[in-house]
Amino acid sequence: MRTQTLGAHGPTVPVICCGCMTLARGITDTDTARQSAARTVEAALALGLNHFDHADIYQGGRAESLFGDWLAEHPSLRERLVIQSKCGIRPPDDSASCTRYDFSRAHIEAAVDGSLRRLRCEYLDVLLLHRPDALVDIEELAVTVDDLVSSGKIRHIGVSNHSAAQMRLLASVLPVPLIANQMEFNPVHNALVDYGLRVNRPDNPSAADGCDALEECRLGSVTIQAWSPLARGFLSGRPATEALTDARSQAKFPLDRILQTAHAINSLARTHAVPREAVVLAWILRHPAAIQPVIGTCDPARLDACAKAVDVCLSRDQWYTVLTAGRGESIP
Ligand SMILES: NC(=O)c1ccc[n+]([C@@H]2O[C@H](COP(=O)([O-])OP(=O)(O)OC[C@H]3O[C@@H](n4cnc5c(N)ncnc54)[C@H](OP(=O)(O)O)[C@@H]3O)[C@@H](O)[C@H]2O)c1
Repeated sequence: MRTQTLGAHGPTVPVICCGCMTLARGITDTDTARQSAARTVEAALALGLNHFDHADIYQGGRAESLFGDWLAEHPSLRERLVIQSKCGIRPPDDSASCTRYDFSRAHIEAAVDGSLRRLRCEYLDVLLLHRPDALVDIEELAVTVDDLVSSGKIRHIGVSNHSAAQMRLLASVLPVPLIANQMEFNPVHNALVDYGLRVNRPDNPSAADGCDALEECRLGSVTIQAWSPLARGFLSGRPATEALTDARSQAKFPLDRILQTAHAINSLARTHAVPREAVVLAWILRHPAAIQPVIGTCDPARLDACAKAVDVCLSRDQWYTVLTAGRGESIP
């Protein structure tokens, strides 16, 4: 598997990262869930995918715990893995009935300790701040990150879902460079590149929505990680009608654009003689910013299909064809 460096000074990682959000999701029996998680992790490793993305909130901590159970059985592999987790989102609990974002020292320290305990390891290679906290005290955050790095609990820091300006603000005080910003990105959710195509046009979305994070990351040697790179499977075989089942999916995956883009992906899959997943990810990998897809599949066969993306190089014409389908209209 091809590799790249995360940020300028981060760890060397495969060009595709494995997201663990849905590890063994829906399996209630603990032993069966452990076996399922182990199958996913080991299938990934067999493909050279040793970079795993977690968050303290995935399945309420269960995803990290299942991974930790597997790691406890294979402690000698820890050094070969790059484990990242996220913190900063607090779902409703005993203390509040709404979701909050929280970059306070107390919350981040407790969250990192919780992740390390569940993952059964002594350090995180990368900690990402999951979503921007409107109430962030940047000086307090700087001290917190400094202590976490000095104590060896985390090796690198990054963000997720942050705009260019939010990144600059944090970077201005943090004692270590940001190495990654994890953002939603796929041919249908394409704002990161679409923004740059609309410069000086009346239909240009405001820079305040964070789309210029791509250019900011390139300037600062920060790796963009693309979450939901497969658009949850809707471009590679999952029936588009399933997107109609709830309001959130309907808004995220408009049926006409899904169908059009899936059609373009199908055709390229035939041309390149690879699975559709490989084409979707190759579309992301084709961007010169070295964007790293964070794939969410737990299915070993689909992992295999995803890994084939590194064998595909889309032409400029093919890339823009997919983008045009994903946008639902020609570029300006
Ligand atoms: N930073 C953030 O805010 C944020 C937000 C969301 C996610 N993430 C990270 O990004 C990772 C990936 O996110 P994602 O899961 O949305 O990414 P994705 O790779 O776009 O979607 C993967 C999901 O789609 C399903 N899928 C794929 N192809 C399918 C098909 N042909 N038919 C049916 N189902 C199919 C997979 O199920 P199978 O397992 O059956 O293949 C899996 O549940 C997560 O694991 C997490 O680590 C980060």
